[in-house]
Amino acid sequence: MNLWGGRFSNSTENNFKKFNQSIKFDYILVKEDIKASIAWSKSLVQGKVLTNQEQIQIEKQLNILLKNVTEQPNDPKKMDVEDIHTWVEKKLVENLGELGKKLHTGRSRNDQVTTDLKLWCRIQIKNLIKNICNFQNQLVEKAETTIDVIMPGYTHLQRAQPIRFAHWCLAYYEMLERDKSRLKDSLHRLNTCPLGSGALSGTSWNIDRKALADNMNFNAPTNNSLDSVSDRDYVIDILSTASIGMMHLSRFSEDLIFFSSNESNYINFPDDITSGSSLMPQKKNPDILELIRGKCGRVYGALIGILVTLKGLPLAYNKDLQEDKEGLIDAINTWNNSLNMASLVIKKIQLNKTICYQSAQESYSNATDLADYLVTKGIAFRNAHYIVGKIVLKAIDMKVTLEKMNLNILKQFCNVIENDVFQYIAIEKIIQNHNTYGGVSKEQVLIALRNAKKKNNTKYIL
Ligand code: ARG
Repeated sequence: MNLWGGRFSNSTENNFKKFNQSIKFDYILVKEDIKASIAWSKSLVQGKVLTNQEQIQIEKQLNILLKNVTEQPNDPKKMDVEDIHTWVEKKLVENLGELGKKLHTGRSRNDQVTTDLKLWCRIQIKNLIKNICNFQNQLVEKAETTIDVIMPGYTHLQRAQPIRFAHWCLAYYEMLERDKSRLKDSLHRLNTCPLGSGALSGTSWNIDRKALADNMNFNAPTNNSLDSVSDRDYVIDILSTASIGMMHLSRFSEDLIFFSSNESNYINFPDDITSGSSLMPQKKNPDILELIRGKCGRVYGALIGILVTLKGLPLAYNKDLQEDKEGLIDAINTWNNSLNMASLVIKKIQLNKTICYQSAQESYSNATDLADYLVTKGIAFRNAHYIVGKIVLKAIDMKVTLEKMNLNILKQFCNVIENDVFQYIAIEKIIQNHNTYGGVSKEQVLIALRNAKKKNNTKYIL
């Protein structure tokens, strides 16, 4: 029988019943639903709906259910019920008889579902932060072991100035720091308890919502019952954070796909994380990274989906809100999987140090430093820029690098150039000179590494 049997003379049409069911995906909220139900039963004692004895019995049965369902997590979706809230109540009544039927007093699935989802999101956020930390640790480890690898840095995908590969790794470390900070923000904002808001207008039972919130480790009860049951901002918060996080992973993937292309050849993937082609025997493809880049799209899709679902929804609860879960669950899974795959990639890639170094040297990436050299000899930067532009043209014509040019030829462009220029524009020297905070010198990269390691990444207390 449906939960609302009394008012209805006919049973539900079978196809509609299936269409209406959320048990296929909301069964994952089972533990949260049981925990929130235990907390609610305690409030019902205080509201004089249950006696102490009755509450103890209900709590005991719910704990047995929790234990069983922890062992058999797929059990709920095997039952033909509308949703997980119905399943838990049904199970309770099955085991406890009439007493089980008292639990839903003053409560609605509308305040229940959002309470469960918030509890679930808290755990997911914690887990995501842990996975981000793991990936950051891999980046730090890779940066440490490759600190001396020099490669070209790019702007407009044109070789621009030499950088350290370690510096590239730590750039992604920074993005991940911001992802964590956004997750912590969303955790802080979601951490209020909607239970006790009833269907939309609160309840006539004398429930201490502050105590109820405390019971489930929420910071406070929500302030407005209409808002409580219709608010899904926290889902949007997480999905927008996930979208930004996946965008970071997608850029990371794109960089590495490019670094591994035959055109740059800076890195190699070991066999165990690449795939071949069914036709072209020579191929070794970075599918792992292409999938991360590709999966970014479905996470954006989930964000857009929930934004569109909520736009124009009148207060308070509407069944449209049931559409909040599938995209969220999928996006969180996708983000977690992608983080784990990205960690694996960074751990396993091998650098072609010599090619990295040669490419940094080949590309006139020391032209800015040659201009800086002229500035040290008293020439205004704008004029120095022009002179070096001409020198580069000549070097291209001669098919040589700047440091291979003859001093006499250089002097034809600007007579302040002396023999010390060659030391000034040597790649090692350039890197060493870029020593401002956050720059690519070894000193600065070591500082960044030390700071990254100092932060205790693996711990996050909820
Ligand atoms: N399964 C619903 C959801 O996920 C909760 C049930 C609320 N249903 C209702 N008819 N008020 O949002």
